[in-house]
Amino acid sequence: METVSNKIKVTIDNITVEVDPGTTILQAARMIGGDVTPPAMCYYSKLQGSGGKCRTCLVEVAAGSAADPRPMPKLVASCRTGVMDGMVVKNITSEKVPDARAGVVEFLLLNHPLDCPICDQAGECHLQDLGYDHGKAGTRYEFSRRTFKRIDIGPYIQLHMNRCILCYRCTYVADQITDSRSHGVIDRGDHAQISTYITKAIDNDFSGNMIDVCPVGALTDKTFRFKNRVWFTKPVDAHRNCTTPGCCGKATLWLRGDEVFRVTARKDEWGEVQSFDGKTGWICNTCRFESKQTSQWTIEGVTTISRHSVIGLNKYQTLNMPQETVKKVMHGVEPKLLMDIHSVSGVNNPDIHLSEIDRPAHSSDFKK
Ligand code: SF4
Ligand code: FES
Repeated sequence: METVSNKIKVTIDNITVEVDPGTTILQAARMIGGDVTPPAMCYYSKLQGSGGKCRTCLVEVAAGSAADPRPMPKLVASCRTGVMDGMVVKNITSEKVPDARAGVVEFLLLNHPLDCPICDQAGECHLQDLGYDHGKAGTRYEFSRRTFKRIDIGPYIQLHMNRCILCYRCTYVADQITDSRSHGVIDRGDHAQISTYITKAIDNDFSGNMIDVCPVGALTDKTFRFKNRVWFTKPVDAHRNCTTPGCCGKATLWLRGDEVFRVTARKDEWGEVQSFDGKTGWICNTCRFESKQTSQWTIEGVTTISRHSVIGLNKYQTLNMPQETVKKVMHGVEPKLLMDIHSVSGVNNPDIHLSEIDRPAHSSDFKK
């Protein structure tokens, strides 16, 4: 008997893909991947109800469906619009989308401070990437930016409300992953802010996951703050036998030498926390904030980082060290001579430290 496929076809930027009914345009675009995928600042596939807040994922629907091929009159939020059989969508091939997206970036940056040089999120900030990819060089905004008083939310997480773009992701984490909902958005318009009740959501084993979902530097790791630029650290995949119920124990360690500067959940190509065995790989605060020794982890290998990311610079999974040529060209002299002059120099008197003598060096300070 012939099996009937209930898949539906959608064409995005001239690429046709078959998807299950109920798939959104954004999910279908992610199946194609690459530049065809619209950016998403508020949608997070692991958080129910996310999406529909930021409008960065706007696309043009050139044909609604095979049954009704009329175009949709306005650009639509791809994270909240389901595909129809025969739908034709334009993202990078649309003439309208770049202008609309530049407008959205302008709105998102109205109140966002341009403090990337001192912001810990720099290098992995989705708004920074969005600004570079879709923003305009100048701003038309003439008013002061909105500012908020600092709120201390404990020893682990720094809240910087001025940077918040109200994507709601952290409120969904508090709602869906921590024990009770004590965190939301209060007020409206330019007074809107994630609720001060966030202080209550912080007393929870999984509160650190709010840092991982925040697309900007509004929620950052206090134990890592100002310690290092992310692109100077080396991310490695690691796991440990964590006993906290619900913690996957799989993380990325951000190393400098052997020192663990930061621990985060593992992220996928969309910047979302990866899934393992069908479950989202959230990690607990013990893994994130209190396991900063490499001896507490089993290191699996270097994390794969997109080559388009600044974090990927100088990170090599298979590194072949170049052959040592100094010894060859120096007629057998070890290169350490150049590094540790006091112990191996054939010139200095090893008992005399030239930097410590309180007079100019003269011939008796050197070996004859
Ligand atoms: S703090 Fe971050 S995650 Fe929370 S709403 Fe603001 S931007 Fe989104
Ligand atoms: S990602 Fe679609 S509206 Fe924010």
